[in-house]
Amino acid sequence: MKLPNGPKSPALIQMLQWIFRPMPFMEDCAKRYGDIFTLQLNPPIVFVSNPQALQQILTSDTKEFEAPNDWNTVFEPMLGKNSVITVSGEVHRRQRQLLMPPFHGDRMRTYGQVINDVTEQVISQWQIDKSFCVRSAMQIITMRVIMQAVFGLYEGSRAQELEELLAIMLNETSPLRVIELYFPALQKDFGPRSSWGRFLRRKQRVHQLLNEEIQERRENPDPSRTDILSLLMAARDEAGEGMTDAELRDELMTLLTAGHETTATALTWALYWIHKLPSVQQKLLQELDSLGDRPDPSSVFKSPYLNAVYSEALRIYPVGMLTFPRVVKTPVSLCGHDLEPGTVVLGSIYLTHQREDLYPQHQQFKPERFLERQFSPYEFLPFGGGARRCIGMAFAQYEMKVILAKILSSWDLALVDDGDVKPKRRGLVTGPNRSIQMVAKQQHQLSSRTLESSNI
Ligand code: HEM
Repeated sequence: MKLPNGPKSPALIQMLQWIFRPMPFMEDCAKRYGDIFTLQLNPPIVFVSNPQALQQILTSDTKEFEAPNDWNTVFEPMLGKNSVITVSGEVHRRQRQLLMPPFHGDRMRTYGQVINDVTEQVISQWQIDKSFCVRSAMQIITMRVIMQAVFGLYEGSRAQELEELLAIMLNETSPLRVIELYFPALQKDFGPRSSWGRFLRRKQRVHQLLNEEIQERRENPDPSRTDILSLLMAARDEAGEGMTDAELRDELMTLLTAGHETTATALTWALYWIHKLPSVQQKLLQELDSLGDRPDPSSVFKSPYLNAVYSEALRIYPVGMLTFPRVVKTPVSLCGHDLEPGTVVLGSIYLTHQREDLYPQHQQFKPERFLERQFSPYEFLPFGGGARRCIGMAFAQYEMKVILAKILSSWDLALVDDGDVKPKRRGLVTGPNRSIQMVAKQQHQLSSRTLESSNI
């Protein structure tokens, strides 16, 4: 089968480049081979960064293409076999249908109070002149937000243990862990001290805690609860069937992991850029101030400059560098290449967002580009698209804006070191290549920049 051109180096070398330096590797290939190229990643995978081709793939990924689970097995050890991410076809369509309602845009107001309160709790601990790691702080906020959105007000030893175990498991992003995920033959339990053995034991405990929670709720149903788990337990498919316990457990794992790590990283980048570029910070503060004494979070959500900053942060270094794989179902022509059924295709979100023809001076952080023109969903696609478009998109958008506004309204912060920070692989997503430290300079008391929680 003739595939688009790509590097000729041995497959193992390409795999190692892909694991250790995915972004420079993709950039080198795009310079050399253009909008579409093939990497030998066992199997060969076609990378695409042309918006028309992305549109073709993502608008027909249940027709000429499919979005199967075969290539998402790297997520299986963490999320299980029943996660929306690791199933495909009809089962995937059903799982999405059951999962989507709690994530519809109109439900976001329900989560506003939680987001505001959790952020307030965490940032009220910051001390003047004391530095802190931005990513860790954002991770604490987003983990608590998703825990409370999923379980409702959630306190006590089970909640605490769950939060701690998930945080440890998600922070294990060493190259060894990535290699283990890509090479299932290495996933061997050599006892509690071995890397995989530790992972398995933690996962077993997390499953136990989630199963206990599900059982407790099955035994004491409370129809007045509106948290995500309650909605998922009440959801029914077209045949009137609900989710099984195993499905619920794996979907909880999916939402708790997909739902906080990504947003924490995106917030970290946004805070980095806002404080690295004084003109951006000034404009943003002006906009937030102009919203009045007690701005309604829905006005915060609609603020144009905040939206531009948020978008540019996800544009320049997208947390998810790729869409999930799509596979050719019936012969298609993509960017002039005839692809046969079975060909695996990945949308490179990273390369698309780096296109100079779409984003002039693409290496610069310029929120204004989002005010000057509109980008199509295939030119700007931090949440992917089509049959597997991010379920948490509206949630993440709302959450990030409310958290950013709350932090900027409450504190004057500064970067400890404003040197350059670049993206690097963090497990299966990307993040900053070094710790970003910030220091709190001044706290605003109830001032014009205070978000009104009662209006949420
Ligand atoms: C800034 C934050 C986030 C980013 C950048 C992000 C990005 C992505 C991307 C790129 C995909 C793949 C889409 C595709 O293949 O077309 C995805 C899928 C997914 N995301 Fe997110 N995400 C974020 C936050 C969240 C949140 C908050 C949740 C849930 C609470 C979530 C849940 C999911 C799920 C379940 C899928 C898989 C959907 C499927 O397979 O059908 N994500 N996300």
